[in-house]
Amino acid sequence: MSENPQLNADGSLRHLLTIDGLPSSLLTRILDTAEGFVAVNDQEVRKVPLLRGKAIFNLFFEPSTRTRTTFEIAAKRLSADVINLNISASSQSKGETLLDTVDNLSAMQADMFVVRHAQSGAAHMIARHVAPHIHVINAGDGRHAHPTQGLLDMFTIRRYKGEFHNLCVAIVGDVLHSRVARSQIHALTTLGVPEVRVIAPRTLLPVGISQMGVQVFHDLAQGLKGVDVVIILRLQNERMRGARLPSPQEYFRYYGLTPQKLAHAKPDAIVMHPGPMNRGIEIDSAVADGQQSVILPQVTYGIAVRMAVMSMLAGN
Ligand code: CP
Repeated sequence: MSENPQLNADGSLRHLLTIDGLPSSLLTRILDTAEGFVAVNDQEVRKVPLLRGKAIFNLFFEPSTRTRTTFEIAAKRLSADVINLNISASSQSKGETLLDTVDNLSAMQADMFVVRHAQSGAAHMIARHVAPHIHVINAGDGRHAHPTQGLLDMFTIRRYKGEFHNLCVAIVGDVLHSRVARSQIHALTTLGVPEVRVIAPRTLLPVGISQMGVQVFHDLAQGLKGVDVVIILRLQNERMRGARLPSPQEYFRYYGLTPQKLAHAKPDAIVMHPGPMNRGIEIDSAVADGQQSVILPQVTYGIAVRMAVMSMLAGN
């Protein structure tokens, strides 16, 4: 194994745990592979036999609509057997540890685990623990990383904007609690986006954010000037301990994306949001449902990107 636990000695993917540390060439290969799967998803028979006979376990210890479902669709389109463990009805409720659960599912001949967990590092822990033939995909761990979301966002940007090297991308909102923002920043900087901005109140920015190669703005209008891509983040109320904001209404007044504020960006700027959205808090419905929004295409591209990741992990 190479020094990066996600990579095999030959540089191929063994696990997908974080975008941090992955080379640009590998990210580009994932995006290029996903292009092929967009074509599969447009066929009449939306199925290929690449993962036939493989068992993929979805382990979602936190709620999910988009990620869990698109992983399931992606695995089924690759012809894998998909098992969605119902965590609340599982023996976790009787006190079974995470690693004991993983060991028992491994004994059922699991080939891949897709893991979402509230604890940062949970997917890494499982990846270190499992047998060498089992692959682990991080589907979101605490505030740390959500690599397939970052990749599907890059795929969406490339589809709408072409190359990365001449873009200005702004990430707006609750960066502090956002695993998505961290994965997006790593992906954007690795893929060569020259200007990545974060726009947020001071209370919603992590210490040392400027060391990640981003420009920091606190004023939405100033930060949006001339940008090509606007990524809105959800206010992660479930991860906030204590009040960091005066009120949702006041947040919307200063940081909610309305058509008037979006007008500061380039006229052809696209608007993205990883979902789920808080309408009327971080984004106005007129923008979420407007012509510049690519929020639903993001979801659709998530299937192709997850097909690409799973097929590459399986050695295809
Ligand atoms: N973007 C995202 O992770 O959405 P879900 O929580 O619905 O999976």
